[in-house]
Amino acid sequence: MEEELNKLRAETLDLIARLPDEKSLADARTRVLGRKGHLTMYLRGLKELSPEDRASAGMLANTLKAELELEFDKAREAIELKEERRKLQSEFLDVTLSGRRLSMGKRHVLNRVRNELVEVFAGLGFQLAEGPEVELDYYNFEALNTPRDHPARDMQDTLYISENVLLRTQTSAVQIRVMESQQPPVRIICPGKVFRRDADITHSPMFMQVEGLWVDEGISFADLKGILVAFVHEYFGQDVRLRFRPSFFPFTEPSAEVDIQCVICGGSGCRTCSSTGWLEILGSGMVDPEVYKFVNYDAERYTGFAFGLGIERVAMLKYGIPDIRAFYENDVRFLNQF
Ligand code: DAH
Repeated sequence: MEEELNKLRAETLDLIARLPDEKSLADARTRVLGRKGHLTMYLRGLKELSPEDRASAGMLANTLKAELELEFDKAREAIELKEERRKLQSEFLDVTLSGRRLSMGKRHVLNRVRNELVEVFAGLGFQLAEGPEVELDYYNFEALNTPRDHPARDMQDTLYISENVLLRTQTSAVQIRVMESQQPPVRIICPGKVFRRDADITHSPMFMQVEGLWVDEGISFADLKGILVAFVHEYFGQDVRLRFRPSFFPFTEPSAEVDIQCVICGGSGCRTCSSTGWLEILGSGMVDPEVYKFVNYDAERYTGFAFGLGIERVAMLKYGIPDIRAFYENDVRFLNQF
C-alpha cells in the first residue's frame, strides 16, 4: 500500500519535471488529482480497508495529495514565468535607439524666388494679378500689338492648341486682361508659367515669368527706371550695378532691356556672362499707345510702363545655378539646398 503510493509519487514528480507547457501540466494534474484521478480513486478505495489500516493509509495519501498539489502549483508558476519572460523578450523595444527622421517637404526654389519677387514688388505698391495658362491668341499677341503676320511672333516659338487658342508664351497677356477689366490706376505684378517650343541648357519648354504693369496719369520712363533700380538693389544687393539697353517689343515704345552686373564674376568677365561682365534679366518699356486702343484707355490721359522677367533666370543668378534643367529634374539633393 505504501509502496503503491510511493510509486505514484515518483512517477508523478518525474512527469511534472518533464512537462513542457501549462496545457499538458493541467492534463497530468487531472489524471492524478482530478475527480477520477489515480490518487482520488485511491482515497475513495480506502473505505474498503480495516479502520486501523484506513487511518494510516489515509494520512499517507492525504500528505501525498497535499505535496503533489504543491508541486503542480510550483511547476505551473515556473512555466508561467518562463512564458512571460519569453514574451517580454520577443517584444523587447530598445528605447535608446535613435529615431527615424521624417523628411520634411520644402517649397521649390522657383516658387520661393517667385514669392520673393512678388514680395519685393508688393513693397513697391504692386498688387498680385493672375491669368490663364491656356490663352487666346488675342490676349497673348493680338491686343499686345502683335498681329498674325508680325515678325515679332518669330521671337517666340508658340505652342498652339487651335488656331485661336495657345499656351501663353508670355505673362504679358495678363496685362491686357487686367486693363480690360479696370480703368487706371493699375499697378500689378503677375507671376506665372509660360510655354515655348525651346529646350537647351538655358531654355525649357515651360518656364516662369513675372510681369509688371503700372499705368496712371503722368507715369514716365523715370518711374520705370526708379522702380527697376529699386528692385535690383533690393533683390540682388545695393552695390549691384545695372544698365538699360535700347530694345524692341511690339507692345512697348520705347523699350529697354535691363542688364545687371554679372553676379558670378562681379563684372570682370566670365563664362556665365560670356566675358561681357553683364547679364540680361528683363525686358521693359513704356506701354505703346496702340495697346491702349484694345482696352479702351485714353492714351492722351494715361501713360505707363511694363516689364517682364524670367524667374529661372533670376534664380540661376541669385543662387549661381548653371543649368536651367536642374529646376525640373526633381533631384532632392539639388532641391534640398534651398
Ligand atoms: N514678354 C516679353 C518676353 O517674354 C518680356 C517683356 C518685355 C515684358 C517688355 C514686358 C515688356 O512687359 O514691357 O520676352
